Amino acid sequence: MTGGPVDPTTTSAWSDLADLAESLEPDLRAWFAEDDGRVERLSLTAADLWVDLSKNLVDDAVVAALLALAEQTDVLDHRDAMYAGEHVNVTEDRAVLHTALRLPADASLEVDGQDVVDDVHSTLAEVYDFAERVRSGAWVGITGQRIRTVVNIGIGGSDLGPVMAYEALAAYRQSGLECRFISNIDPTDTSTTLEGLDPETTLFIVASKTFGTLETLTNARLCRTWLIAGLRGSGALGPDTEDRVAVSRHFAAVSTALDKVADFGIDPANAFGFWDWVGGRYSLDSAIGTSLVVAIGPERFAEFLAGMHAMDEHFRTAPPAENVPLLMGLLNVWYTNFLGAQSHAVLPYAQLLHRFPAYLQQLTMESNGKSVRWDGTPVTSGTGEIFWGEPGTNGQHAFYQLLHQGTQLVPADFIAVANPAYGLADGDADVHELFLANFFAQTQALAFGKTADEVRAEGADEAVVPARTFEGNNPTTSIMAPELSPSVLGQLIALYEHITFVQGAVWGIDSFDQWGVELGKQLAQALSPAVAGDAEVAAEQDASTQSLIAYYRKHRR
Ligand code: F6P
Repeated sequence: MTGGPVDPTTTSAWSDLADLAESLEPDLRAWFAEDDGRVERLSLTAADLWVDLSKNLVDDAVVAALLALAEQTDVLDHRDAMYAGEHVNVTEDRAVLHTALRLPADASLEVDGQDVVDDVHSTLAEVYDFAERVRSGAWVGITGQRIRTVVNIGIGGSDLGPVMAYEALAAYRQSGLECRFISNIDPTDTSTTLEGLDPETTLFIVASKTFGTLETLTNARLCRTWLIAGLRGSGALGPDTEDRVAVSRHFAAVSTALDKVADFGIDPANAFGFWDWVGGRYSLDSAIGTSLVVAIGPERFAEFLAGMHAMDEHFRTAPPAENVPLLMGLLNVWYTNFLGAQSHAVLPYAQLLHRFPAYLQQLTMESNGKSVRWDGTPVTSGTGEIFWGEPGTNGQHAFYQLLHQGTQLVPADFIAVANPAYGLADGDADVHELFLANFFAQTQALAFGKTADEVRAEGADEAVVPARTFEGNNPTTSIMAPELSPSVLGQLIALYEHITFVQGAVWGIDSFDQWGVELGKQLAQALSPAVAGDAEVAAEQDASTQSLIAYYRKHRR
């Protein structure tokens, strides 16, 4: 990219938005009462998603100013540059092409002299073939038994996406074939995840973009040790057979660093590559999704990719005023930079999306939690908000109190599907309808509240009227889809990827690097000897760290 980023705060749109925020008197009750067309104007379709923005704290003037801000900060030019394979990841000098991972096979996109669509589809073919062999039982372990459990070993983007999607698409999994996931270097994770597994029917997938991540490589070694010990212990691996024979039947890997995969001892025939233009948190749709392909099958995975592509096309082609990721990204800018919001809740009313907020935390916060712009200059405005959430209705009985009556502004996205994967009736009541009634009730209560007079009319004692009053005007976006199919899941993920992109583009930051995670990694390496008892290294640490290490050394058994 040439030139520095536009400073958003110097644009006329920014000044207009500041003025609009200053004079804003949010009144969703009045806005709805006075404007019959509000819901229709602010309800949009993106692929199979139906998105109701009407309960946000915006009027037409705010929406127009936000769209002007996007224009004045060149958001759509940045979008086109990203899709075209320009090196929009400036600090790592890389293209950013997760959108190319879901291009159809007959598309073509040349980047840095290479047709990436060909590369993507030939790797997909390898992953699909591997997955089919595992699913059909053609792939057997060292004793000739079919695989019953696939254990994905990865962390961050090499874990959160696969876990989230495996959970979300539970209804599409092949029965008799389970996936488990190990991510944390806390040895408890590996110990408990391996519990009850039979080495003869277990296949590990080591997923790591860099193949240099401490947690993943440590866990991979632990799993290899567990495998070999188990197989030797049972006699499945005889004394004359080398470990690598078992590893080749029970270990596969996914990485951009295939040389390191080979060094680790994994058979290159079981290794699937991807490319440095896929960020870790954008990689579920690359070979990093291999465990998901095994679970749901190539056909469903192709539907998942097609769903992502449909959202990519929407973002690429929909006019700005109807462009859902653009508008949702701009709304987040509105709340963060003009209305003082610090966090953003994502509240799925779909139990199977229970890991979606955790997945989005990496996507949004690793992307936009930055305080310098892509040219190295300081940001000129607040950037990434804290994303968090839990599925409804559980959250209702935990933190919704703060959403309804607290002092913080927390914009929230509610997500639900019309048809649940697993429906049940309670007598005559369709339980999913009870569930959805909660979704609709919550967004209604948050928007319109309950006045003191309404509380009095219920006969409340005057002394408790304030405590029982709801101010309302808490902004929400409602996202609905027919069902949580692979395609719809892909659409949701791509929607949030593009929302994240829009925010980063407005703020002028590189949403695709993650230097902020490096310092802690370096320090952990440096501190390890001290934790293990090296007094000299311990003495070099600050006083607090020394005392924490001392506590550990004293209490360890
Ligand atoms: O530490 C952060 C990070 O680099 C993430 O961006 C990435 O998803 C994760 O670590 C795992 O990295 P890898 O896939 O290279 O093991």
